[in-house]
Amino acid sequence: MFNIEDFDIKLDTANLGRNFIYAEEISSTNSYLMSSDQKLQNGTLFLAEYQTNGKGRLDRIWTSQKNSNLTFSILLKDVNKLSEINLINLATSLAIAQSIENLFQLNIEVKWPNDILIKRKKVAGILSESSIIGKRIDKIVVGIGINVNQTLFTGKYLIQPTSLRIEKKRIINREKLLSELLNILEEALQLAKDDPAKLLNDWRARCKMIGEIVKIESENVSKVGIFEDIDKNGSLILKVKDGHEKFYFGDVSLRKI
Ligand code: BTN
Repeated sequence: MFNIEDFDIKLDTANLGRNFIYAEEISSTNSYLMSSDQKLQNGTLFLAEYQTNGKGRLDRIWTSQKNSNLTFSILLKDVNKLSEINLINLATSLAIAQSIENLFQLNIEVKWPNDILIKRKKVAGILSESSIIGKRIDKIVVGIGINVNQTLFTGKYLIQPTSLRIEKKRIINREKLLSELLNILEEALQLAKDDPAKLLNDWRARCKMIGEIVKIESENVSKVGIFEDIDKNGSLILKVKDGHEKFYFGDVSLRKI
């Protein structure tokens, strides 16, 4: 069971995780916060030991073994611009990567738009959802799933999964990882507001696919080209024969020629 006291003692944030909701089981921590009432404070974190309907990107499912991993969502109520949403995803990927590197000295790569990889295997994913009222961003919910102590992955995966326990060959302390991650994430979210150019450069430095020939699948379109860069909003810029194309979402994979 997740020990909230062990987590709290290492938490050094102003907002993130200060209001902590814990459940043994829920349909989805994202769905819960998306439908929650207005009174929950900015930075509220919902962590569940098991999700019966965990959601992944692009309407996929996210499965995670009970009591083993980190499956949680964070409520953000201080986002003013729609263009910040992609930057929030990049900031979250970087914070996950940095916290894992700090604690476990593993080499972490980010994959567009928001997968976190160890040796090309997926260790974590992010699903952000937003609620917009008129022109105002009512809230953003950032959902994070990290494979921490799960050792067996059955089923079909787009990217081969791994976990920190598999990589480090020992049981990992989830409480310490979560507090480290939130401490870093709070700063990264501030950077997304104050200095997005720096955040984008940090992300580029961790993405090994930039400059490679890739295939991107977005809705029903599949395109091959060079992953040239990400733009100021975090969209992928693909160099194709007759120019450049921009992608806001999709799945990208390396293409061998
Ligand atoms: C992906 O890689 O497709 C994103 C996975 C996001 C999973 C997390 S687990 C906690 C939160 N609640 C959900 O239902 N999904 C996110």
